[in-house]
Amino acid sequence: MKIKNICCIGAGYVGGPTMSVIAQHNPEIKVTVVDLNKERIDAWNDKNLNNLPIYEPGLIEVVSKARGRNLFFSNDIDGAIKESEMIFISVNTPTKTYGTGKGMAADLKYVELCARNIGKIAKSDKIVVEKSTLPVKTAESIQSILENAGSGVNFEILSNPEFLAEGTAMRDLAIPDRVLIGGNDKTEEGKKAIQALVDIYSSWVPKENILTTNVWSSELSKLTANAFLAQRISSINSLSELCERTGASIGEVSKAIGMDSRIGSKFLNASVGFGGSCFQKDILNLVYISRSLGLNEVAEYWNQVIVMNTHQRDRFAKNIIKNLYNTVSGKSIAIFGWAFKKDTNDSRESAAIYVADTLISEHAILNIYDPKVSSSQMIFDINYLNTRSEFENKKYLNIKSDPYKAVEGAHAVAILTEWDEFKTYNWKKIYQMMKKPAFIFDGRNILDKDHLEEIGFNYNSIG
Ligand SMILES: NC(=O)c1ccc[n+]([C@@H]2O[C@H](COP(=O)([O-])OP(=O)(O)OC[C@H]3O[C@@H](n4cnc5c(N)ncnc54)[C@H](O)[C@@H]3O)[C@@H](O)[C@H]2O)c1
Repeated sequence: MKIKNICCIGAGYVGGPTMSVIAQHNPEIKVTVVDLNKERIDAWNDKNLNNLPIYEPGLIEVVSKARGRNLFFSNDIDGAIKESEMIFISVNTPTKTYGTGKGMAADLKYVELCARNIGKIAKSDKIVVEKSTLPVKTAESIQSILENAGSGVNFEILSNPEFLAEGTAMRDLAIPDRVLIGGNDKTEEGKKAIQALVDIYSSWVPKENILTTNVWSSELSKLTANAFLAQRISSINSLSELCERTGASIGEVSKAIGMDSRIGSKFLNASVGFGGSCFQKDILNLVYISRSLGLNEVAEYWNQVIVMNTHQRDRFAKNIIKNLYNTVSGKSIAIFGWAFKKDTNDSRESAAIYVADTLISEHAILNIYDPKVSSSQMIFDINYLNTRSEFENKKYLNIKSDPYKAVEGAHAVAILTEWDEFKTYNWKKIYQMMKKPAFIFDGRNILDKDHLEEIGFNYNSIG
């Protein structure tokens, strides 16, 4: 089966970069990325590539070559579905905020809407690929919706979860550790669909890195991968607190255990806690599925990863308050970094939001600087928590486009994202601009403690 047209529903952090790379390596296939959000599609089509809706190193280069050639961004969802033989669903699957499973289960309404729309529009056979992260057995629901749409065409469902990490997405897509494709290899149509997707990835991914499994293993592998990654962060963070009490150093402990080849050195940096749109949501989802199946011990085991992450964030904010003589009321604090990690403009579930919220509750005045997150996004993030009114929030938030403006008269600087540029700042100059004693709370352990203490800072790191 030769695919000539691909449609991807959802032009977000996954759909945009993933389809750009597929288009880059398959110039003979027309790839159309569609979205309900007109503003987002306009930004993807913006002549000025600096206005692309997401920031990801290396993205501009790939989009500039493929866009208009075989890569297109459009709001014409139905048109793209009609003409494509393969449709990726890459819409958001946030945690439910209502009804059964509120605060735990994945909200699949966007995925279901896509499936219903595909079922209604399709006039020829389609391969539907789950790119969104979905609970185990979602493919069954999608299949049922499509089959009952009455279009009379055949649908094959594949699961192809995305393992890219924001900030390194283009590298992860160019040389993936593995590509996972779940499908039904018990039928001829199923086998053909799997092969069609394997062929697309084979344009640039070595065959041995393309793994095929059954659909449910594929769906569960994605949740498991995120749960394991987040678990490592919570594990090291739990020990950072123990280090602070005992005089051991978490950096030294991380190094010592990371050199054990059975453990490995990645994902062992203690920090203010993980954020991002995926880790928390996917673990909550895993916990919810386990509980629904009566597997309470399994559910509680994974739930602790989240408990520890929330604790780490709270503890960081409380430590700032404690060190600033137990009150931050009316004190100005510079927040460096709002994105949930470096090299992305994504702030979803960022630790910075929660730390800032706690500080605002204590009436601190925050001067926030991030190299890539827009001020409107920061204001949205704080208001979204609904802790207090927008009017009230406004009184405590100053968003700065220059880091040196953020530190003028500040009592403390809190580092909440590990942006490389923070390491290169003139910290002597910053010290001179701040109130004394001048505090640094390094939530990412990226700054040079000895250098800062020599300048005169009161430097606090994690662990
Ligand atoms: N962000 C990541 O790093 C990452 C990594 C791997 C997997 N995932 C998974 O990929 C999925 C997408 O994540 P994302 O970060 O790209 O989300 P996102 O919010 O950035 O993008 C989703 C897009 O889908 C659009 N959309 C929603 N419903 C639609 C509909 N019915 N029709 C057309 N467009 C619709 C939204 O407007 C939005 O632009 C999620 O399931 C997520 O868990 C994300």
